[in-house]
Order: sequence, then C-alpha cells, then structure tokens
Amino acid sequence: MQTHTLVTRRSLLALALTVGLTWAGSVWMAAQATAKPQMTVYKSSTCGCCEKWVAHMRQNGFEVKAIDVDDIDKVKKERGVPDAAASCHTATVNGYLVEGHVPADAVLKMLKEKPAIAGIAVPGMPMGAPGMEMPNGQKEAYTIVSFDKAGKTAVYQKR
Ligand code: CU
Ligand code: CU
Repeated sequence: MQTHTLVTRRSLLALALTVGLTWAGSVWMAAQATAKPQMTVYKSSTCGCCEKWVAHMRQNGFEVKAIDVDDIDKVKKERGVPDAAASCHTATVNGYLVEGHVPADAVLKMLKEKPAIAGIAVPGMPMGAPGMEMPNGQKEAYTIVSFDKAGKTAVYQKR
C-alpha cells in the first residue's frame, strides 16, 4: 500500500513538472512572438518625411526611439553608410543599418533572414516610398539596396 502511494505521488510530481514546464514554455514563446524589434532613428528635427517614416515603422510593429541630431551626415560617416546609399535619416536595428525610406516589410525580411550585410537603404527620397507619399498619390519605381562594411552596394529588392 505504502509503495503504491509513493509511486502515485512520484508520478503526480512528474505530471506537475511537465505541465509547469509546458506552461513556462508557451509563455516564453508568446513573449518571443510579441517582442517588437527595437529601432533607433537618427534624423534632423526639421525633416517631416523622417517623422512620417518613423510612424510607418511604428505602425508595422517596430519600437522606435527617434533622436534628433544637428549633423546627420556625421552619423552616416561614423556608422558607415556609403555615399551611394545615403538618404535623409539613418536607423539601427539588431545591429543592422537602415538608411532612408525603406519599407517595413523589407526590414522585417532582413531581420528574419539575417544576411551578412551591414544594412539596407533606399537612396535619395523616391516619391511614394513609405514616408514619401505624395498628396496626389504619385509614385516612382525605386530600388532597395544592400551595402556591406566596405561600402559596396547591391540590389536588394525592386519596388
Ligand atoms: Cu526623407
Ligand atoms: Cu527621413
């Protein structure tokens, strides 16, 4: 009788442990799924399109810290954004650089695939890119480029 009780207690304990671990696991997984990518954006205080791009990223699930700087070109030089990729604002997320009006889905793709690049950019300020919406709805085709630490650029996506 006593042996029987002991076995039951043991299996109950094992069951409780299993349930507990499964529960902890699902809580952890839920936290992972809802964790927002943390982005820091360096921009000039006078630039309205930068604000609009920050709003676009927030709408798409990014946690954005926006920092106004006096000399945005200095930030680009320090961080290693190639001249050929330069635009208005410069952002960092998970160790990558994001330069200019890059659509949120392209940034998410990069964060998911983790390519061996320094970052991606939309050079210049193409009309119709996120944050560059025109009142008349005008859009122009543009290229999202990737760049490496040496400053070499390549086509990442065409839009
Ligand atoms: Cu801009
Ligand atoms: Cu900008």
